Amino acid sequence: MFFKKKIKALINREEVMKGQLPKHVAIILDGNGRWAKSRGLPRTAGHQEGSVNVKAMSILCADLGIKALTVYAFSTENWKRPVEEVKFLMKLPIRFFDEWAPELMENNIRMKIIGNEGELPLELQEKVREIQELTKNNTKMVLTIALNYGSQDEIKQAMQAIGSDVANGAIAPDEIDEKLIESKLMTAGLPPLDLLIRTSGEERISNFLLWQMAYAELYFTRTPWPDFKEPQFLEALVQYQSRNRRFGGLSEKK
Ligand code: FPP
Repeated sequence: MFFKKKIKALINREEVMKGQLPKHVAIILDGNGRWAKSRGLPRTAGHQEGSVNVKAMSILCADLGIKALTVYAFSTENWKRPVEEVKFLMKLPIRFFDEWAPELMENNIRMKIIGNEGELPLELQEKVREIQELTKNNTKMVLTIALNYGSQDEIKQAMQAIGSDVANGAIAPDEIDEKLIESKLMTAGLPPLDLLIRTSGEERISNFLLWQMAYAELYFTRTPWPDFKEPQFLEALVQYQSRNRRFGGLSEKK
């Protein structure tokens, strides 16, 4: 009872902001379909609601002082979904990027896209270029949207780039180190990943940021993505902070 009260008291923005916050948070946006089904709605309604939540969470993260938020919007494996759902998922960002633009500018948020852009519909490629160009000088936070992204594919592309540098003599094999590999990943330039969240009860990584998550804290919640709002996010941050604090305590005892 006391513990519950203590947690409850902790979960307000100001308290959470007094603790150490992650610089870079990534989220696997899962559970849109189930959220919709439980309300008797089509799956697409869940994706629509999930998109609205991406913007709200981005502004919250920027307000909290988090420097980077990376979300998994469409994986290289998601093409296997029914054609109509894929079509809908490709149209959503076109609409939403336009809607978000004024607020991204107002909140000083830069948007970056990672993934194989060349395989996206041309209209979406154009929108991706537009929003990245518009927001490129914003400095408060980077919102990275993974669109047609797969981590193994990203690592393969990095290996190919390094392999060709080795082949043409630009670098020697023993010059390959973690820094060089990171510089070839699509996330180059972002802070190290501190916290990876997956909503909706699944506890797997699904080919997302495999290299980047080396030292990340993992947080799984049963809440579906459209219901993952400020209180749920603050709870994840409190967990993150408590894990860090426990680690400090153990070191002191040693
Ligand atoms: C997984 O939930 C979710 C996706 C594959 C799509 C996530 C995409 C968005 C929230 C849209 C992002 C849009 C913009 C504009 C960035 P699921 O459909 O697998 O849910 P389920 O497991 O309950 O079926």
